Amino acid sequence: LKKIWLDTDPGFDDWLTMLLLGSNPDIEWLGVSVVAGNAPVDITYDNALRIKANDGLTVPIYRGCEEPLAGVIETAQRILGDSGMPTTGEILPPGAATDAAGHAVDALIAAVRAHPGQITIMAIAPMTNLATALSRAPDIAEKIVEIILMGGSTDQGNHTAAAEFNIYADPEAAAQVFNAGIPLRMFGLNLCRQLLVTNVEVERLRAIGTPRAQRLAGYLEAYVRIRSADGSVPMPMYDPVVALYLEAPQLFQFQPAHVAIELTGELTRGMTVCEFRVPRRAAINTQVAMLADGPAAIERLMRRLAAILV
Ligand code: BDR
Ligand code: CA
Repeated sequence: LKKIWLDTDPGFDDWLTMLLLGSNPDIEWLGVSVVAGNAPVDITYDNALRIKANDGLTVPIYRGCEEPLAGVIETAQRILGDSGMPTTGEILPPGAATDAAGHAVDALIAAVRAHPGQITIMAIAPMTNLATALSRAPDIAEKIVEIILMGGSTDQGNHTAAAEFNIYADPEAAAQVFNAGIPLRMFGLNLCRQLLVTNVEVERLRAIGTPRAQRLAGYLEAYVRIRSADGSVPMPMYDPVVALYLEAPQLFQFQPAHVAIELTGELTRGMTVCEFRVPRRAAINTQVAMLADGPAAIERLMRRLAAILV
């Protein structure tokens, strides 16, 4: 079984990722580190514990970093509302007040040291926890199998014209992770825009009919409405792409690149500058996902959800 660690900031699409990981028989899910991102960490942690209780997950969940390495936290609450996880329907009931003891960064370091050369990290949030762990324990870099991340873009951004949210929210952390010599597999906006959801998927979820499916459909409906009030504009699916890749790698194609994080640009801070030029100008540090069978990936997501939400 592949050993997996998830770093997350739930977030509706983070929730979907947790549902997929929690029902994947081919992995051993060791832990979850929660970080500030979509909302402040008190809220993303609370969301993670709601998800855990609602979906009967057993994985330990640790509370992590509150602030990006430099600067002031910028959440996505302007778009997503206070909870970071809007819904048109019933709100997910509260879970426990706390979960696993200790700070997420310490837990992550301990897990990697306990299983050297065995843990793959799924990173679907700003990289503050990961960078802090690498600063505190540089030895873990060579003990991590791979970081599979949702973040960045080969072209346009979403939080700004140039930058994707997870990288923009803590570019210094991302730079540290991309420069750590750890094998990276990046699923950026360029890839996620090939996995589109619309009202059709909302209705499909609703049609499953169970209370859990109805509730998730309300969240998916709010998610689909991020781009247009009536949900008529297809919305890219972000975080679950990393979990879908674990299950069905054949759906994705990659191109090796050197990816650097822009830290100083007036308009481009947080941009992932992808160097694909051949002959190569810079050493490869990332496998960049370029092409997906988007319809097949969304079909797989919907079928998996139908099986989970019984
Ligand atoms: C990323 O930002 C967050 O809002 C989502 O959860 C996802 O991780 C997409 O840019
Ligand atoms: Ca996320």
